[in-house]
Amino acid sequence: MKTAEIASRFLDYFDKRGHTIVPSASLVTDDPALLFTVAGMVPFIPYLSGVVPPPYPRAADVQKCIRTNDIEEVGKTPRHGTFFQMLGNWSFGDYFKEDAIRYAWELLTSSEADGGLAFDPKDLWVTVYEEDDEAHDLWLKLTDLPEERIQRLGKDTNYWSTGLPGPAGPCSEIFFDRGPAYGIDGGPATDDDRYVEIWNLVFMQYEITNVRSKYDFDIVGELPAKNIDTGMGLERIAFIKQGVDNMYETDQVRPVLDLAARLADKPYGHESHEDDVRLRIVADHVRSSLMLLADGVTPSNEGRGYILRRIMRRAIRSMRLLGVDGPTFPELFAASRDAMKESYPEVETDYARLSAYAIAEEQTFLRTLAAGSAILDQSVAQTKDAGGTTVSGSEAFLLHDTYGFPIDLTLEIAEEAGLSVDREAFDTLMLEQRTRAKADARARKGAIADQSAYRAFRAAGETVFTGYTDLETESTVLGILVDGRSADRATQGQIAEVILAETALYAESGGQVADKGVIVGPGYELEVLDVQRPVPGLVSHTVEVTAGEVAVGVPATTVVDALNRHAAQQAHSATHLVHAAIRDTLGKTATQTGSLNRAGYMRFDFSWGSALSPETRSEIEEIANNAVRDNLEVVTRELTLDEAKTAGAMALFGEKYGSTVRMVDIGGPWSRELCGGTHVARSAEIGLVNLVGESSVGASNRRVEALIGLDAFRDLAAERAIVSQLSSSLKTPKDQLTTRITELAASLKAAEKKIAAFEARALADRAPSLAEQATAAGRVQLVAESIGAAGSGDDVRTLALQVRDRLGSAPSVVALGAIVGDRPVVIIATNESGRTAGAKAGVLAKVAAGVLGGGGGGRDDVAQGGGADASALPAALSAVRTSLETAPA
Ligand code: ALA
Repeated sequence: MKTAEIASRFLDYFDKRGHTIVPSASLVTDDPALLFTVAGMVPFIPYLSGVVPPPYPRAADVQKCIRTNDIEEVGKTPRHGTFFQMLGNWSFGDYFKEDAIRYAWELLTSSEADGGLAFDPKDLWVTVYEEDDEAHDLWLKLTDLPEERIQRLGKDTNYWSTGLPGPAGPCSEIFFDRGPAYGIDGGPATDDDRYVEIWNLVFMQYEITNVRSKYDFDIVGELPAKNIDTGMGLERIAFIKQGVDNMYETDQVRPVLDLAARLADKPYGHESHEDDVRLRIVADHVRSSLMLLADGVTPSNEGRGYILRRIMRRAIRSMRLLGVDGPTFPELFAASRDAMKESYPEVETDYARLSAYAIAEEQTFLRTLAAGSAILDQSVAQTKDAGGTTVSGSEAFLLHDTYGFPIDLTLEIAEEAGLSVDREAFDTLMLEQRTRAKADARARKGAIADQSAYRAFRAAGETVFTGYTDLETESTVLGILVDGRSADRATQGQIAEVILAETALYAESGGQVADKGVIVGPGYELEVLDVQRPVPGLVSHTVEVTAGEVAVGVPATTVVDALNRHAAQQAHSATHLVHAAIRDTLGKTATQTGSLNRAGYMRFDFSWGSALSPETRSEIEEIANNAVRDNLEVVTRELTLDEAKTAGAMALFGEKYGSTVRMVDIGGPWSRELCGGTHVARSAEIGLVNLVGESSVGASNRRVEALIGLDAFRDLAAERAIVSQLSSSLKTPKDQLTTRITELAASLKAAEKKIAAFEARALADRAPSLAEQATAAGRVQLVAESIGAAGSGDDVRTLALQVRDRLGSAPSVVALGAIVGDRPVVIIATNESGRTAGAKAGVLAKVAAGVLGGGGGGRDDVAQGGGADASALPAALSAVRTSLETAPA
């Protein structure tokens, strides 16, 4: 049974039992504490926790998931994949334990002809939470499972949560027994290789907080409703139903594994267990990377992008360990695409973009490996030269941390050279780094507000946004929060959050900043500081009470600062034009990765590997301004997601919230985006787009910035003023300014060169008279003189050598002091017989530098010392003389 067929049987079964079938949400979550969708329930958290009223009482889906906490297990066990699909059926306060158990058992054990999965009941076991008598008894009552195949287990396995504060509950898991060939008897309580968990039924009933570990947390109380969250592992069912040994050999993964084996010329399943593990890692990681790229994640050094990068690099590294040094991603990704496109057509339609990232990442990492190897080779050579046997832990850590060079590779290369690596020191450094990272993550978790206060408001309905058409709206105060807690009033001087039934004020989203404005009502006035949507559908206004007192239940009129709003609209519409212009110029692979729009300014980030040439920048700017001039109509429409996709709008995350989307067209399909922002009515209102910057924001990510409207004009006017000033002070017409300035710079350079030559000659002229100053000092003759200001240390050095040459072959030392810039410099030069007599320039330079308050040194024949205190030059030269005079004979 193919993987796709198992999924469709599951959905059909629940469709027939009144469940709404919903599409998979993105792998990327909105929740900053939870980088990825780690379980089927993640996109449903707002419904499960009761923050947002569920749009349907029961649902079923196939959800894409990513989990990397067990990444080291991938390839070694039959069931650990970093990407996997979770089949789930959901009840939001509708059915509970009894139906969840009944449905699961029926679907698993009914025949294929009846649409079931045809498991033999004799192969199945279940576990329940040790205190859940109800679930235990239901399994006995509803199924023909004998009591000895129902095991009671503790919180660590049979109590489910995401590991973060939120909904949780006891669970009951269903296992498939692979038979005695795979491990010992005794059921899931004894062995998890032989007994494979295939389905988890969570009776989601409680809200937990202060999560210290899987079994140590505080229960806050009951959720508003009793819910069902189930997760069936699609890959696990697939490998059992396909009669293969593990998930890597199923139809969606095996083709990549086979191709990797061919490329490496290492037959799978025949020779080496280690090589088999590597092939499985490659197959799993290539698929996970493909799916992450398809959901808009791009490789980078932090957050989600870092995890993607790590997965890709593990795959590259595994290919290398299999003996393939060259690029393999172009072929491996194409194979994974072909295996996945039936279930996820986007991996084919978007393949040009996502394979470009994969191929570039592989090229970069192969270069990193080459560069890292070179650095490591050097440190291996140095260690050997110094007679050592160990590469230091800090060296290994530096390679890992700075160059992304993996430790196992460092170990391998060192070992080949007969050296060891100080693994303990390396591990200590890694631990320190992890501790820092964990502290960061904790800080992020702590920053997530307690959302329970918003729940009651959201349950009463969505905040109606009237600001697409109105800049003023009368409504009522539904709620007030002071310091995050519900309050019935707020008085003058207080900062509070205000919830209204309707608002004309735009809440920050989609890159557009929040509106400015005021909220007024009988006897009070509020200045709006921020407008946000703390939970989907609910708008919260952060305000300062500037006059009077506001209370729950009173009328409230929101008044938008119209000028500021209009300027933000100009910027937001301009962003759409620039986006379209970038796609016109660079092609479809230049996709948006971020944006910001505020009055007078826009910035737009997009995936692109290299800096834009000045010509490309001008072209983008010109296309955008032509669109302004053409006065294109801006048309917004509400559509279903499918309609919008058919119309060619770019996909959006979080599609589980809301059944309709808003599509904004400027000039018909030329610029077409899903966007909840506010826009001008026609493009000419934007006025002017003035591209002021283009820069890099991380690997393969560029940013353009532009000033918009009046701000764009003011910036150009300021530049015009500068040009006029230059024109009049250089007495040159504007159109000849660049030529004139280039000429001036060239003649300045020529003049500087001439001056330097004069100075050097003037210095050289001083050589004879300086040589005449030589007097005896110990066993040598010494010239120790200050020459005043000099152009550079090199000039002084040249002069010192000229003086030395004039002193002939008698033992001689020259010590010249000079001031270069405003710092003192002493140059010491010795001749051969001087050195034989024991005078060493390097030593003498140190003596001088000691007096000057700086450092010095060099070779025996010429050396330099410096410092900070120019007035100490005479003393420094005397010190040189004293040192020579007192040198032991
Ligand atoms: N949320 C449950 C799990 O992921 C079903 O196992």
